[in-house]
Amino acid sequence: MANVSLVNVEKTYSNGFRAVKRFNLEIRDGEFIIFVGPSGCGKSTTMRMIAGLEEISSGELWIDGQLANFLEPGQRGLSMVFQNYALYPYMSVYENMAFGLRVHGEKRTEIDRKVRETAKLLQIDHLLERRPSALSGGQKQRVAIGSVLVREPKLLLMDEPLSNLDAKLRGQMRVELAKIHKQFSSTIVYVTHDQVEAMTLADRIVVMKEGEIQQIASPNEIYNNPINQFVAGFIGSPSMNFLPVRCGVENGIFFLQAGESRLVLPPILAKRIKDQGGLGKELILGIRPEDLYRKDEEQERAGQSGILQMDGKKSGGELLMKVMVREGLGAEVLLHGEIEGENACVKLAPSCVTSPGETIALCPDMKKIKLFDAQTGDNLLYLNMTGSNG
Ligand SMILES: Nc1ncnc2c1ncn2[C@@H]1O[C@H](COP(=O)(O)OP(=O)(O)O)[C@@H](O)[C@H]1O
Ligand SMILES: [Mg+2]
Repeated sequence: MANVSLVNVEKTYSNGFRAVKRFNLEIRDGEFIIFVGPSGCGKSTTMRMIAGLEEISSGELWIDGQLANFLEPGQRGLSMVFQNYALYPYMSVYENMAFGLRVHGEKRTEIDRKVRETAKLLQIDHLLERRPSALSGGQKQRVAIGSVLVREPKLLLMDEPLSNLDAKLRGQMRVELAKIHKQFSSTIVYVTHDQVEAMTLADRIVVMKEGEIQQIASPNEIYNNPINQFVAGFIGSPSMNFLPVRCGVENGIFFLQAGESRLVLPPILAKRIKDQGGLGKELILGIRPEDLYRKDEEQERAGQSGILQMDGKKSGGELLMKVMVREGLGAEVLLHGEIEGENACVKLAPSCVTSPGETIALCPDMKKIKLFDAQTGDNLLYLNMTGSNG
């Protein structure tokens, strides 16, 4: 268990490249923190600075109230699991797991107890006598994680620990990691480019882009209240639909115009957009695939979702989608195509019979739409709820 705090941490590599900029984060004791972002955004660099494997160019790193910038990796009380986990090939699983404890001179009975307990938790207790060469990829990865956990690190750093595994095993290991975090209550800092891992495992997600933190928040908040278009597009699969729009007003009714389509804004949204100076500006409308409904469905839903204007007119409207691809996924159907010439995707119930070539009318859930400034990418409807960002 550990508190870690990064204050204005920066990394400039010797070739002058600034890989991490003004990184500010306070990691709470026992928290599962995930750094997520596209390849090259500085996730590993930041983690390596925490580990002591990379020099901090400027700023401060505090671990449990102690300035840690100049501590050797071994003095920081942390352990690390990498993507390419290393096991000693000529040692059994048991010896691999016991190795770190032996080096630290622990008693044999203690080592034995810890190894067996950890192995049981990770469901590798039946593999203790095997050599790594006789293990599957997933089993090897569990042993690698086990040989770190057995040392009960107060801070566990994991850099893409599941990326070498196939999809099914990754799913299983995700669940195992969540259990491990519950049982060991270690502070975990975890790096991944996989937004699904971030969404399912993290207490809080740190979304990064080009060396800079975009947003720090819980998975729910990141999903529902993204700070900008980058975060909105990076988190969620299939990703959010984006459509250039302009916000206009006629007879006191505010609307979004996208090509030929017009969506009437509910008064609350209209007010917020006006307050944010969005009127007349080029904006990007963001709608998640699950927040679009077929027009006939929407009419059934209308009772709940239709927000009445002053004159009794309902907000919302329809967007026409030219369907090009239909993906039946069993529990749901994804339709891919174009809305006003932009790529778009909608998630519908499996009962949907629409096929490629058809054009369907879709109604967005106006309570869920996002609006971004086309120039800056800022979310005009962002609600600063926690004040904890950056
Ligand atoms: N030793 C280095 N010298 C110069 N640039 C580096 C070095 N290591 C990494 N970089 C660059 O820093 C950026 C961030 O790298 P990294 O932290 O590994 O990204 P991520 O883990 O998010 O994929 C990348 O553009 C990478 O090319
Ligand atoms: Mg990396």
